[in-house]
Amino acid sequence: MHTKSLLNRRRALYLGLASFAGAGAVGCGKILSQSQQLQAVYDPKRDFTVTGGASLKERAAAKGLIFGSAARYIDLSSNPEFAASFAKECGMLVPEWELKFGALRPSPKRFDFSQGDGLVEFAQRNNMLFRGHTLVWGQFMPDWFKNTVNGANAEELLINHIKTVAGHYAGKVHSWDVVNEVVDPSHGRADGLAKTPWLEFIGPDYIDLAFRVAREADPKAMLVLNDAGFEYDTREDEGKREARRVYMLKLLERLKSKGTPVQALGIQAHLEGITTGFNPKKLTNFLRDVASLGLKIQITELDVIDQKLPLDINVRDRIVAGVYEDYLSLVLSEPAVIAVLTWGLSDRSTWHSQYNARDDKAAVRPLPLDEQLKRKLAWNAIARAFDKAPKR
Ligand code: G3I
Repeated sequence: MHTKSLLNRRRALYLGLASFAGAGAVGCGKILSQSQQLQAVYDPKRDFTVTGGASLKERAAAKGLIFGSAARYIDLSSNPEFAASFAKECGMLVPEWELKFGALRPSPKRFDFSQGDGLVEFAQRNNMLFRGHTLVWGQFMPDWFKNTVNGANAEELLINHIKTVAGHYAGKVHSWDVVNEVVDPSHGRADGLAKTPWLEFIGPDYIDLAFRVAREADPKAMLVLNDAGFEYDTREDEGKREARRVYMLKLLERLKSKGTPVQALGIQAHLEGITTGFNPKKLTNFLRDVASLGLKIQITELDVIDQKLPLDINVRDRIVAGVYEDYLSLVLSEPAVIAVLTWGLSDRSTWHSQYNARDDKAAVRPLPLDEQLKRKLAWNAIARAFDKAPKR
């Protein structure tokens, strides 16, 4: 999972942080210089005051923005309290799993739309927008895929998949992640494209093809290219990290020049708790350059990974909240940014529990609501960013 490999490369920078002496932290190792970096981002007096009682979706809407989150069918259908919190805070729902290839296609010949349909119904019942994720991705494909798909049938299968899925949900989807995670400089290609089965079997034009088929299947949905890793530079990755933004811009320019119906860039924004490599100027310029291509921007999978932050929840929550507010204040200053979605609403259901668990086994806390669905400082931070955002 490329998101994970990105995070691993950064891990080397923060190894010492886990030993930061927060209250009650066990096994304090040698406090490395990184603790000064931690001190730089941890301000016990930072103000996260929020005025009024409006929800996140109401604060976003007041500025012409959309706030939403990812959720799973099992969580919304089996937990009324969670469903109520989700409906209260979110103006848009994106399925974390149910519209992916692996969820929809239990076998080569069968589509199972049952859970996707259940999520569309939940969104409609709660006057919520609905976004699709994702028609084409090179990872987490079902077992039958590798034994069935090859150079001879891949294009037909891709076209049929997109036609069937985007056609099934036509008219119900605000925006589709048509293709997900297409750039990966570590794969060594001159164009920076990730080496996925689709690229291998169809060639680089699979991206243009996917957008054209999706446009035909759903003339209304906003068509989005979704990717990650645009926020940080590190000494080791300077070339690669910089290349992510450069490769993506070049790809978007190529697609626009050939008339590919791409309308927006989705920026996943899986952020790290310590932003030593955060480069505000480069990110601001990148957003501006994307917008100059006539594209909108959606922040599609926002969360803040606290895996390497101190055990002390008060310290951890304040750092996470600071990253949320600083990042959103920056990206929301770009008028082309139209939506912000977190990748999960409550800490009780986050991919980080599995993919970025803490060494001290403490529960991770990357999201706006805690496991009891109580608003955290991260919630305040997002609310404040919307309250300060320029009106669209
Ligand atoms: O529930 C199903 C089960 O019915 C099925 O039989 C089984 C087969 O593998 O899978 C189970 O689903 C799991 C699913 O999450 C729902 O919980 C999958 O195993 C598991 O791989 C899947 O992980 C998701 C991952 O994408 C891969 O799809 C994570 O929840 C999800 O948070 C993560 O999200 C990705 C975005 O799509 C793209 N950007 C990065 C982001 C984080 O990795």
